[in-house]
Amino acid sequence: MSDNNIQIFDTTLRDGEQVPGCKLNKEQKVLIAERLDALGVDVIEAGFPVSSPGDFKSVEAISKMVKNATVCGLTRSVQNDIKVAAESLKYAVKPRIHTGIGTSDSHIIHKFKSNRESIIERAFEAVKYAKSFVEDVEFYAEDAGRTDNEYLARVCEAAIKAGATVLNIPDTTGYCLPGEYGAKIKYLKEHVKGIEKAILSCHCHNDLGLATANSIEGVINGARQIECTINGIGERAGNTALEEVVMVLKQHPYLNLDTHINTSMLYGISQLVSDSMGIYTQPNKAIVGANAFAHSSGIHQDGVIKNRATYEIINPKDVGVTKSAIVLTARSGRAALAYRAKNVGYELTKLQLDEVYSNFLNFADRKKEINDNDIHQIIETSKVYQQIISA
Ligand code: KIV
Ligand code: ZN
Repeated sequence: MSDNNIQIFDTTLRDGEQVPGCKLNKEQKVLIAERLDALGVDVIEAGFPVSSPGDFKSVEAISKMVKNATVCGLTRSVQNDIKVAAESLKYAVKPRIHTGIGTSDSHIIHKFKSNRESIIERAFEAVKYAKSFVEDVEFYAEDAGRTDNEYLARVCEAAIKAGATVLNIPDTTGYCLPGEYGAKIKYLKEHVKGIEKAILSCHCHNDLGLATANSIEGVINGARQIECTINGIGERAGNTALEEVVMVLKQHPYLNLDTHINTSMLYGISQLVSDSMGIYTQPNKAIVGANAFAHSSGIHQDGVIKNRATYEIINPKDVGVTKSAIVLTARSGRAALAYRAKNVGYELTKLQLDEVYSNFLNFADRKKEINDNDIHQIIETSKVYQQIISA
């Protein structure tokens, strides 16, 4: 792995599937895993094997099928979880166990009714036990976002001593600001003894809408893995959206950080996940929303028709969207109407366009969006229709 490569760890099938009502069956999970593997993700977190027999079977089936990516299973710092995860991963070409424990005072006091030293011991023992099954062990410090950096560094040191290959620093509650999250990663890079033996991973939640920004700050400050989900689905306000972080890195090449993702598959896989989970993607969702490449105001449409780059920073084809959409509404101008009319077969002169445009505005004031059939009707009922078709 080059030092500039950012590993993409997809957790759609684990953190994403924790969303109420999103439960997938084994066949659906295997299909999504197959597409994730083809997309080029580095790690597929396939589930939480001890949580149910169904999840165990899904992780096992994915382990048998996946050819390229590492397949990972989540556990708590509990021996039985780790043993069951190892069993479910036994067919994987590249298996990884993802174990960990809460490290913030809130988790230590309220969840575990424990103390900082005992948590460090549990973290060490869990990683050591996981290492007895697989070489690749990722450790998560749950609620690291609200864990003080000095203590977090000590937990990370213990995990590395026990053999962790990846240290996951989750902002579990989505609380951190980008600068704060970036500084946390930098602090760990600079203060954890043995940090060169492991890579740091960003796992951010979107409670304040900052998951993508925080993950990007994390990699700018030295993390080399981002944990994310397709469409950003996940608990509460969701996880970091895979398509967003991948496109941020691609569109900002001077950051000199890249991924192995085949971005032209992003739109297709977004639709697959949304259809399988029955979760509708908001139209204004970055990269994959229905309006991400749609232009409806006259000024923008005129610009995009002259040159797409005036109002688009991404070529839609790069993410698998066939083309930008010029949406006709009452806010559209003559340029957009002429463009759409041409697409359905009418080449309008300037005078014809003036006449058809006033007909169009009357129509558009009554209807939210004008489709191709409406364009035919608008032109056929205009005074200049005979002229247009005899030209
Ligand atoms: O958000 C989180 O802390 C998690 C861990 C279990 C990795 O999902
Ligand atoms: Zn999470």
